[in-house]
Amino acid sequence: MFKATKDIYERPMVTRHSPFALTKHAGMVFDAMPFKEIDGFAIEGLLEKFGSPLYAISEKTLRNKYRELRDAFVSRYPNTTIAYSYKTNYLSAVCAILTQEGAWAEVVSGFEYDIAESLGIPGAQIVFNGPYKPMHDLARAVENRAIINVDSFNELYQLEELAHRYNKTVEIGLRVNMQLNCPTWDKFGFNLESGQAFEACRKASSTGRLRVKGLHCHAGTYLADPTIYTNVAIKLAELGIKLEDEFGIEIEFLDLGGGFASPNTLHKHLMPGTTTCPTFDQYAEAICTPLTRSLERFVGSPRLILEPGRSIVDESMFLLTTVVATKRSALGSKVVIVDAGVNLLPTAFYFKHDISPIHSAGMSVEEVTICGPLCMQIDVLRQGVRLPPLQKGSVLVIKNTGAYNFSQSMQFIFTRPGIVLLSHNGAEYVKMPESTQDIRRLERVPKRLLVKARK
Ligand SMILES: Cc1ncc(COP(=O)(O)O)c(C=O)c1O
Repeated sequence: MFKATKDIYERPMVTRHSPFALTKHAGMVFDAMPFKEIDGFAIEGLLEKFGSPLYAISEKTLRNKYRELRDAFVSRYPNTTIAYSYKTNYLSAVCAILTQEGAWAEVVSGFEYDIAESLGIPGAQIVFNGPYKPMHDLARAVENRAIINVDSFNELYQLEELAHRYNKTVEIGLRVNMQLNCPTWDKFGFNLESGQAFEACRKASSTGRLRVKGLHCHAGTYLADPTIYTNVAIKLAELGIKLEDEFGIEIEFLDLGGGFASPNTLHKHLMPGTTTCPTFDQYAEAICTPLTRSLERFVGSPRLILEPGRSIVDESMFLLTTVVATKRSALGSKVVIVDAGVNLLPTAFYFKHDISPIHSAGMSVEEVTICGPLCMQIDVLRQGVRLPPLQKGSVLVIKNTGAYNFSQSMQFIFTRPGIVLLSHNGAEYVKMPESTQDIRRLERVPKRLLVKARK
C-alpha cells in the first residue's frame, strides 16, 4: 500500500564540521539549542491541540515588558504616559491586556480608532497620528477630545473648519520632524530646521480656533542608539519653550513617539540583536535627563508621552511551524519547507529571526535554508541557519514575532492560522483560524458571471 510518510532516500553529503559547532562555547550554534516550551506550555502539545502553523502569545512576557518600560520612565519622569502603538499589533487581546496595564492608545486610522473605542478607551486617552485622517475620523476625534497630532497644513485647515462647525476651540499637537543622528523621517509633520513647525503654530494661533498644546516627534523605528532620543528631547523642548514665549500658549505634552529596538537582528548586522538592543533604562536616561533639566523653563510641566510598539510586543509572540518537506538545492545545500511563510512573517525580509528546534540532536548540526510554503522564490524565512538535522514533521519555534507580523500578515495563497494566548488561564484562542468563507465573505460575483454547471 502507498504510504504518504514513506522514508525518503537522500544521497549522503559529507559536511565539514567547524570546531565552533562542536564545543560547548559554540556561539554559532545557539540556534540549535532546543526550545521546548513557552511559559510551561509544551510546544508539541500546543500544535497537537491547535494545529500548525500557530501564533502563540505569552501574556506574562507582554505584561512584563510593559511594566519594565513604564517603571524605567516613571521612576525618572513621573509624569509619563505610554500610548501603545496599535499598528504594531492591533490584536484586540493584546490591546486589551495593555489597556488593563494602564496604556493609552496610539492610532493612525479610523480602523485602529474603532478598536481603541471598542476596548473602552476614552477619547482623551487616544493619540491620533498619521498623515491621512479623513474628515469623519477627525470629526470623531474632535468630538471625543482625542489628542490629535496634526501632520500637514491641509489637516490644520480641516481642523479649523471643524472648530467652526462645532463652535469651539480645538486643542492640537503638532507633529515635527528634524535632523537627527539617524535618517530623517521627513514624510511626517512639519520640519523644525526650515521653520515650518514654527509657522504651523503661528497659523494655528492666528485662526483663533486652534490651540497648540503639544509637540510630537516619532524619529523612526528600531532605533538602537539612545542618543537619538536625547537629541529629540532637547530639540522638542527648545521648540516648545520658544512657542510658549512667542504665542503665549502652554505646552502640555511632549510626545517622543516610539521606535525603541527589540532584540531581533537586522540582516546587515553582524552582532545579534540581543547584544545591541539598549535597555529601557538606557532609553529612559537618554530622554528623561534632558527633559527634567528643561522643565523649569516651561510654563507648566509637560506630560511625556511615549508610543512604543515593537519594544513591548515583539518578544511576547512566537510563530510555531512544522517542516513539511526537505530537499537539496541545486548546489547541494539543505533546504526545508515549513508550513509558515513570509505571509505570516513579513519581518523575515528585515530580520534574521531567532529560530530554534524543539528537539536536540546531540552535537549534530547542519546549515539549512528555511523556506515557507508559498509559490514564490522569495519566500525564505532564514538562510544559512545551523540547526540539528530536520525532517518532515520537525517543529521549529520562531521568536520575537509580535511586532509588525500579525498586523502585516496576509491571506496570500493560504488563509491565516489562529492565535492563542498563553496565561494562567491555559491556552485559549484569541483569534480563530480563518476559513475560505471568512476571506470570501465580502466578495460579490455578478450573476451574469456565474456559468452554468459544466457538463
Ligand atoms: C507615529 C508612530 N508612533 C509609534 C510607532 C511605533 O513604533 P515602534 O514599533 O518602532 O515602537 C510608529 C511606527 O512606525 C509610528 O509611526
